[in-house]
Amino acid sequence: MITSIRLENFKNFADETLRVGPFTVIVGANASGKSNIRDAFRFLHGIGRGYTLAEIVGGKYGAGGQIEWAGIRGAVDEIIRFNQPSLLLQIGVEDFTYTIRVGRDEVRDGAFQVIEESLKLSANRIYSTQSERGDLYTLQPGDGELLLLRDRASSLEEINNYVKVRADQPGLTQFQQKESVSDKHRSRAELVIQGLGNMRFLDLNPQRMREPAFPGQTVLGDHGEHLPTVLQAICEDPERKETLVEWIRELTPMDVRDFEFPTDPSGRVHLVFLEANDRRVSAYAASDGTLRFLAMLTVLLGPDSNGLYFFEEIDNGIHPARQWLLLELIEKQTAKRGIQVVTTTHSPDLLTMMNDDTFQNTSVVCRLEDADNAIIRPVAELPRAGELRKSQGLGRLLSGAWLETVLAFTEGDAAEERQ
Ligand SMILES: Nc1ncnc2c1ncn2[C@@H]1O[C@H](COP(=O)(O)OP(=O)(O)O)[C@@H](O)[C@H]1O
Ligand SMILES: [Mg+2]
Repeated sequence: MITSIRLENFKNFADETLRVGPFTVIVGANASGKSNIRDAFRFLHGIGRGYTLAEIVGGKYGAGGQIEWAGIRGAVDEIIRFNQPSLLLQIGVEDFTYTIRVGRDEVRDGAFQVIEESLKLSANRIYSTQSERGDLYTLQPGDGELLLLRDRASSLEEINNYVKVRADQPGLTQFQQKESVSDKHRSRAELVIQGLGNMRFLDLNPQRMREPAFPGQTVLGDHGEHLPTVLQAICEDPERKETLVEWIRELTPMDVRDFEFPTDPSGRVHLVFLEANDRRVSAYAASDGTLRFLAMLTVLLGPDSNGLYFFEEIDNGIHPARQWLLLELIEKQTAKRGIQVVTTTHSPDLLTMMNDDTFQNTSVVCRLEDADNAIIRPVAELPRAGELRKSQGLGRLLSGAWLETVLAFTEGDAAEERQ
């Protein structure tokens, strides 16, 4: 489980930390930086996939030229906060803390390289490029190599207790492959790699969900591809199917009774809804909202789903009167399974209806007036937030821009006090 993510000089954040729970909700005005947080998660996910920095940022293409990984928005020029030399990302994975600082290699070709990196288990270092004696063992930018010090190696005598890795790829995915690294350390690094690798970024596109799928494709694509075969796999288990049909029935007045999965002559599987009156409606004719909801259902109820799911603008396409349903489903599923959801939303209704746990994991992203960087604050920690939530509902505080107003006060004061 991911517990937190810290962004230093990443896009429009100077140094901010997002608290991450089973279900994390991010609110904030347009262009405040919500999607930039998603980009930070994607950066770390790219590390988990074993990519080099150039690939993470710029994208990776398969042998046939097809895109295997889309780079980070803003790519090379704009992922570091403007006028800063480097960015730092830090993530809590279970009891581990993984930190990486990345900057441009100005001496050579301007390519990204790792400047500093560490992996800790609670307070114990598994490796780090920084010794207790400063950056003695950190090679200078331009050397193209990095030393990862293991354990407590902190003196010159222990200098042989290191592994040398390339600086153009995160040390985490190289360290774990070095023969000289102990099994204990290797398996710890692997746990973190798994935690980072186990993230999905769903950007659902109803058009893609309508397309037929080839049998065997049981993992939903990031745009909702393969929905028919993913659903079909879930429906093979009668209990799961029952649950799924119950939820979708709640959403749609058209009363879905069952699904059918006809195969066309080319072997592709189509999705057809069977309504209560025995009428058949193909996925081509189904509504966008139904399809989006269905795709989220397959993720949340699917047997193989685990890890962290990032849904952009979860309320998109779902009627306000039905958003509680989605909320309830996510709150329920994230509370009991190894699945985490992070979402951005502009929906006041969703905020009003969320339970206490979700409230504790709701953060606001805000750009204060005259500042070009943004801050991230847990909503529950704003003065009187709990009280006002009870009396007025959180949604009203969102639509009335109360969150931003309060932040302008409290953060403005904090800034004055610092001076
Ligand atoms: N490298 C950067 N340095 C500073 N600000 C940046 C940088 N890259 C993007 N931004 C800011 O981030 C904003 C976009 O944030 P985004 O996360 O897409 O907003 P939203 O909250 O709507 O999802 C841009 O308008 C820009 O102001
Ligand atoms: Mg956005």
